[in-house]
Amino acid sequence: MLRRMPPLWLQITGFIALVVVLGLALAFAIVQLRGPRLEVVRPVAIPENEVNPAIWGLAFPREYETWLRTKEGRKTLFAGSIPYDKLEEDPRLRTLWEGYPFAVEYGEDRGHAYSVEDVLKTRRIQVLAQKRGGSAPGTCWTCKSANVPSLMAEMGAANFYATPFEQLRERMQYPVSCANCHDPKTMAPVIKQVALQEALQKLGKDIRELSRHELRTLTCAQCHVEYYFAKEPKDYLVFPWEKGTRFEDIEAYYSEKNFADWIHPSTGVPVVKFQHPEFELYTSNSTHYLAGVACADCHMPFVIEGGIKYTSHQAASPWYRMEQACGTCHRDIPFIQKRVEIIQRTTRGLQDAAENALLEAIEALKAIKDNPNADPKLTEEARTLFRKAHMRWDFVSAENSLGFHNPQEAMRLLAESINYARQAQVKAIQALQRPQARVP
Ligand code: HEC
Ligand code: HEC
Ligand code: HEC
Ligand code: HEC
Repeated sequence: MLRRMPPLWLQITGFIALVVVLGLALAFAIVQLRGPRLEVVRPVAIPENEVNPAIWGLAFPREYETWLRTKEGRKTLFAGSIPYDKLEEDPRLRTLWEGYPFAVEYGEDRGHAYSVEDVLKTRRIQVLAQKRGGSAPGTCWTCKSANVPSLMAEMGAANFYATPFEQLRERMQYPVSCANCHDPKTMAPVIKQVALQEALQKLGKDIRELSRHELRTLTCAQCHVEYYFAKEPKDYLVFPWEKGTRFEDIEAYYSEKNFADWIHPSTGVPVVKFQHPEFELYTSNSTHYLAGVACADCHMPFVIEGGIKYTSHQAASPWYRMEQACGTCHRDIPFIQKRVEIIQRTTRGLQDAAENALLEAIEALKAIKDNPNADPKLTEEARTLFRKAHMRWDFVSAENSLGFHNPQEAMRLLAESINYARQAQVKAIQALQRPQARVP
């Protein structure tokens, strides 16, 4: 029996349907083969001085939504984003920072979306204001708000820093966000922090020539660094990098200037309080830095969603997303997670030993402070050694990765700290034993 051909209309429809299906299959295959696309960066009309991240978010919802997630809180082994009192946990810190605002309050940091809220809450600002007989300097805002770059351009940097903290409060509407790191016209990451621009210039770097790769680390160096407030111009923010960015370069810079943040009361020794030298520790020849890994690789990893690849702006501890943050280079995630833990616990152990050594040095130095029976030369040597020990310990303890960013360098500095602290202790004891000490 002859099979009847389907009617012409059905043949045509069937043919069209086949073409459509094959076309879609081909398109799908191309997308799969090509891999995810990087989010297209459109030149959008974000106003020149826009500071509100929600407005930037209208153009870039994925980046904005992940940025909002810097509000999420999680505790990791030693860090994370759940505030806890570090002084309560380690009371030795009160003695080590005696007489300085950090001995009053020192907590765990949180995500970028909290930066304004947290600086307004900290009692350190109140203590600083009291000490200075009124107000903390405007400088304390520099790393805390998206309003800073445009306001500083408007007021001039020196004027901004010298304005009282309270007086600028009204102007600080938004926490660390888009306007701190991007040019709204091109969306390229840029250096907005005046102090970093000036510091790089002194190191002979042209900030217009920075590569995209360098900016994936240097945008973070706008804030995650050591700094101090100069006396002249008043409270001017300076990164102490003139001699370089390694610990010894910074120490040499401070020593040359006879710089001290405060005099440690029990010992009378002028000491330095480090801030959060993540950039300096990381870039001091760490394995990852030398291998070309950037801060953003681990803390703002790429995410793939619906064939689109974009940067997660949830700058946070990589602990809970090591697959994303480390998986581009490392296969065995449980293994490196274990390594992070081992590195941090080892650093913590050495940090404890340094703190104990420093506390015993403090006891010995107390006995020779203003003591006419102490040998002046040995006293001076003991004090110098104590300053060296204190600075090395503080540098590592102020850095927020508990050694992970550069394990060898952190251990080296802590080992030196212990060595100097014990030498300071011995010299201080000897200062009271020398017979010539009693000669008028
Ligand atoms: C190779 C990956 C990697 C690189 C590169 C890296 N970090 Fe980290 N960072 C980590 C890990 C791991 C921790 C420890 C997290 C923890 O303890 O929860 C950490 C901790 C931190 C913390 C403290 C986080 C917290 O929860 O309090 C900050 C801040 C930070 N890093 C900033 C930076 C900056 C700035 C740079 C670049 C100068 C950088 N990191 C480079 C992996 C990295
Ligand atoms: C702390 C600095 C920082 C902040 C704050 C920041 N970004 Fe980014 N952003 C970066 C870096 C670094 C990159 C990666 C640049 C690169 O590799 O070229 C990036 C990339 C981007 C890109 C390019 C596409 C992508 O996802 O890789 C867009 C768009 C973007 N950010 C939008 C925003 C928006 C919107 C905000 C505010 C909600 C914001 N950024 C806040 C540092 C920042
Ligand atoms: C304009 C200043 C500024 C810039 C730029 C900046 N940060 Fe931060 N960052 C902060 C401040 C301030 C905090 C602490 C906020 C708080 O505790 O309220 C912080 C906290 C963090 C934390 C701890 C988050 C947590 O959950 O504990 C990480 C991680 C971090 N930043 C990574 C980065 C990385 C990576 C970059 C560069 C891509 C960067 N930051 C650029 C100011 C900045
Ligand atoms: C862009 C690539 C890259 C990323 C991302 C990366 N690493 Fe690495 N990591 C390396 C390289 C390269 C080495 C050097 C050893 C090697 O070649 O395997 C290394 C070495 C290490 C080591 C051994 C070093 C030591 O001293 O024990 C650990 C641990 C480690 N990485 C952990 C991490 C963690 C945790 C993350 C994510 C938070 C991470 N890495 C992200 C490239 C990367």
